[in-house]
Amino acid sequence: MSASDAYLKAVATRRTHYAITNKSSVPDAKIEAIIKEAVKHSPTSFNIQSSRVVLVIGAENTKLWKLITETVTKGLEGDHKTHVEGRLAGFSAGYGSVLFFEDQKVIDDITVKFPVYTNEFPVWSTNAAGILQHVVWTSLTLEGLGASLQHYGAKPEVAAAIHQAFDLPTTWTSTAIMPFGDPASPPGEKTFTPVEDRVKVFKA
Ligand SMILES: Cc1cc2nc3c(=O)[nH]c(=O)nc-3n(C[C@H](O)[C@H](O)[C@H](O)COP(=O)(O)O)c2cc1C
Repeated sequence: MSASDAYLKAVATRRTHYAITNKSSVPDAKIEAIIKEAVKHSPTSFNIQSSRVVLVIGAENTKLWKLITETVTKGLEGDHKTHVEGRLAGFSAGYGSVLFFEDQKVIDDITVKFPVYTNEFPVWSTNAAGILQHVVWTSLTLEGLGASLQHYGAKPEVAAAIHQAFDLPTTWTSTAIMPFGDPASPPGEKTFTPVEDRVKVFKA
């Protein structure tokens, strides 16, 4: 086995798990340690360290998904409301959630310092957020937990409710919410387009 094989095997093992339980076979302290290690070592442009994370577990997770459900389903009716409520109930049934943010104050400050990259910093910020999300997602998978990546925090009214409920700085912008728990069932089938069509190699 080469040095990167174990890492790439872990990358391939990470999957979207929608069916999760309100149990965790992984101790809370271990989940917390994984998140701290991921936040510390995931790279950011100019090493600005703009990523922020909130971990909610147990009743705090129930509180999170209750407020998301109330906010998202407001004004919905009939079958559509039932469908959305059903989907949200699946996330609400989990053990915890990892909330990912980027601190806009950090982005604004670096933009003032390097205005030449004004257009790039927001892009690099979302790139950094994605790297961190992947590190956390893969690490939770390796511990046996199931997780998925959700974006309800992109809705301003949901973001406002989350900020208020957890007393978060207003400069923290939600990039994703990752509900997790022990898997209730295996992930669904995944199809792949030929990787040869997606990667070009030139060598002389
Ligand atoms: C950047 C990104 C955004 C995603 N957003 C959502 C989302 O909002 N809701 C959702 O259910 N899944 C979301 N997913 C999960 C993808 O649908 C999933 O990763 C993809 O279908 C591949 O399946 P896999 O995760 O099992 O490998 C997202 C994944 C990525 C990488």
